[in-house]
Amino acid sequence: MSASPPDLTGRHLLLGVTGSIAAYKAAPLVRLFKEAGAEVQVLMTPDAERFITPLTLGTLSEREVLTEIFPENEEGSWTKHVTLGEWADLFVVAPATAHTVAKLARGFCDSMLTATALSARCPLLVCPAMDREMYRHPATQDNLERLEEMGYAVMPAAHGELASGLVGQGRMPEPDAIRERSAEMIDRAEQSTAASSASFGDRSLQGESVLVTAGPTQEPFDPVRVLTNRSTGTMGHALARSAARRGGTVTLITGPTTLAPPEDVDVVRVETAEEMNQAVQAHRDTADLVFMAAAVADYTPAERSNTKLKKGDDFVLHLRRTPDILKTVGDHKRSGQILVGFAMETNDAYENARRKLEEKNLDWIVLNDLTEEGAGFGPNTNRVTLLSRDGASEDLPLMAKSDVAEAILDRVLSAHSEKAS
Ligand code: CTP
Repeated sequence: MSASPPDLTGRHLLLGVTGSIAAYKAAPLVRLFKEAGAEVQVLMTPDAERFITPLTLGTLSEREVLTEIFPENEEGSWTKHVTLGEWADLFVVAPATAHTVAKLARGFCDSMLTATALSARCPLLVCPAMDREMYRHPATQDNLERLEEMGYAVMPAAHGELASGLVGQGRMPEPDAIRERSAEMIDRAEQSTAASSASFGDRSLQGESVLVTAGPTQEPFDPVRVLTNRSTGTMGHALARSAARRGGTVTLITGPTTLAPPEDVDVVRVETAEEMNQAVQAHRDTADLVFMAAAVADYTPAERSNTKLKKGDDFVLHLRRTPDILKTVGDHKRSGQILVGFAMETNDAYENARRKLEEKNLDWIVLNDLTEEGAGFGPNTNRVTLLSRDGASEDLPLMAKSDVAEAILDRVLSAHSEKAS
């Protein structure tokens, strides 16, 4: 989860709520959207009103909730679904029942929600919530697939305890994750509009293959305990997202994080340094650019118990070194490949970073000096220094990590195209 909420100021969101027990989660979702600055219009199906009242959602959204296409006593307002469809930047259906998913997949329009979905010109995000067997049913799976073929985004239902008492896939994704995904979709839609008018020029990644690592690794020493670090994965995810927006074919190899996967990025999830190493080495030769933003554990427990270790007297854990993934990539660097590493330092920052750049055969290194305010793992901002192989260095100001990612790509790609010309 990102530390600060995404900025949705002035964005217009339609939230479709249908008759699932998860409808109660629509209330915190509306609050999260509003907190991010969005205007929210809630559309409910008649069945949704059995689970949460229009009064609740209307109060939270500060707009009257709409349900019927032909409301009583409102002559002449039946074209609202068309105007709403034009008004919205994004239409989120959460929770989406099996019934509504089926209707959306086949173009039924028997409520304000389904009619507006047909009229909408904006991207649609569907977040299913239903019982395990209904979710698994081939009819539902077919309908969800059809939605994706139609260009809708579908967030897979989460795994966990269901209202029926069963455990399985069928829970509505958490409101936080839905907001994150919504912000990404809006961002992406805006970017692609912008990209069609103003291209990235020599800082485009069209036709290039990009490999990014992100997040911490987790090194288990029994089934319940791990050694890890405080990395959130935000910097690596931001780089992968920016690279994809510039037209790159992006693979993101990430350790455990709670971040939503960036759009249009091939995500490989790993847990340990060893797994990350295997995944990176398997992808390294096809990559034109490699960004190693992961905070890889340097040590892993020498032994892993299959059963939970019981407490006793003082306990000594024997650790052994993990492979230096980036150094291996550097040792095998092919001509023309660009290698960017990261360094996190608390003392002799420049000297250490430059030494890592040399030793690991990098073209660039992004230095986080932890003694500088704002640098490092925690918040959604970062302050970094960029060092290049030919001796240049640039201190970037404190910026959002998404802007740091853009700045890194801008510098690396401009220098590359200068050299090539
Ligand atoms: N890295 C890696 N494999 C490791 C450790 C680090 O690929 N086992 C990569 C990181 O992703 C980063 C760079 O190497 O891009 C530098 O990581 P950092 O932790 O700063 O340095 P280390 O090489 O681990 O050196 P030290 O811990 O001694 O500072």
